Amino acid sequence: MTTTTTTAALAATDTASAVRLESISKSYGDSFAVRDLTLDIAPGEFFSLLGPSGCGKTTSLRMIGGFTDPTDGTILLGGEDVTALPPNKRNVNTVFQSYALFDHLSVADNVAFGLKRAGVGRTEIRERVAGMLERVQLGSLADRKPHTLSGGQRQRVALARALVNRPQVLLLDEPLAALDLKLRRQMQVELKQIQREIGITFVFVTHDQDEALTMSDRVAVMNEGRVEQCGTPEDVYERPASRFVASFMGTSNLVPGTYRAGEVVVEGGPALPVGPRAGVSDGSRVSLSVRPEKIWLSDLEPGMTRVNGVVRETVYSGPTTTYLIELAPGITLSVLEQNTDRSRMEDRWSGGESVEIGWRPEHCLVLD
Ligand SMILES: Nc1ncnc2c1ncn2[C@@H]1O[C@H](COP(=O)(O)OP(=O)(O)O)[C@@H](O)[C@H]1O
Ligand SMILES: [Mg+2]
Repeated sequence: MTTTTTTAALAATDTASAVRLESISKSYGDSFAVRDLTLDIAPGEFFSLLGPSGCGKTTSLRMIGGFTDPTDGTILLGGEDVTALPPNKRNVNTVFQSYALFDHLSVADNVAFGLKRAGVGRTEIRERVAGMLERVQLGSLADRKPHTLSGGQRQRVALARALVNRPQVLLLDEPLAALDLKLRRQMQVELKQIQREIGITFVFVTHDQDEALTMSDRVAVMNEGRVEQCGTPEDVYERPASRFVASFMGTSNLVPGTYRAGEVVVEGGPALPVGPRAGVSDGSRVSLSVRPEKIWLSDLEPGMTRVNGVVRETVYSGPTTTYLIELAPGITLSVLEQNTDRSRMEDRWSGGESVEIGWRPEHCLVLD
């Protein structure tokens, strides 16, 4: 596991972390849903748990919320050990994927629900509910019933209902998964704006890497119950710590080969200079990884790593074109080009042509 320590370390020394998980595990029988998870989430941070279905995201979130007891480990909220406390004794709220709104209550009454139960006075409830509905742009829909709203609007009611209680931490389990792509993109931006304005710590679960990259201050990439890497979106995308992270975060061009004396010898193909790599010994089997948008097809610069290939496929998709370049039998790299003014249609490569491609050495990762 690789952890980017800067933010977490600062959080630990300046103030108590909003959420701190110390080696928590959850097992069912002899299989682990979550294994030895340690995380520090700073106050006001937008933190995402990202990973494929079944990797332990929901279980982790449920343990923070108090809905599932860890088999092992300690959970602290704002520096206080809450491991043994039930959900209603923890200053957190949860927004689930199914919004679970009360259909017989109006939007305003749905949002007021938690405050009423907490015994907050009527005037204060009215003010806080109205303020929160404005904030999520539902002011004009306060008297409507949830079933008359669109998916995106219901999502915002659920969010308002959780935020109005002013929790220290808001837990969100794939809250946008039910929305269609366009609305999801729009809600991603809105949700991030609301979080920034209100300044509440968000722990956000998603299996969608674009969503995590777009919204988060930091991301923990999970695989089979463990965190494989934790860092800023740029860290996990540009400097993936493992093959799993590289391939989960978008197209990564993993080329198998053998490391020898500063080169990766591709099976049945060229030897690519990668320079000395700390922790990689001669003869070890590695994967070389270069992101598709980091590979150049023309106007190569001095100092770039160059390699010859053959164009096998050209896929036009509006703003970009993807080329599949074959380096050796069965070994291809995806190359993504922006369709700017410079790259005119008629200049584009077609299938079967020999090309020289290149990348800056720092954009080439060697993963074992
Ligand atoms: N109540 C349970 N009983 C048995 N196994 C469970 C239970 N809850 C979750 N699991 C298992 O734990 C693993 C992680 O589940 P979950 O946290 O829901 O994953 P995710 O939210 O990342 O899709 C899965 O293999 C799942 O089948
Ligand atoms: Mg889940």
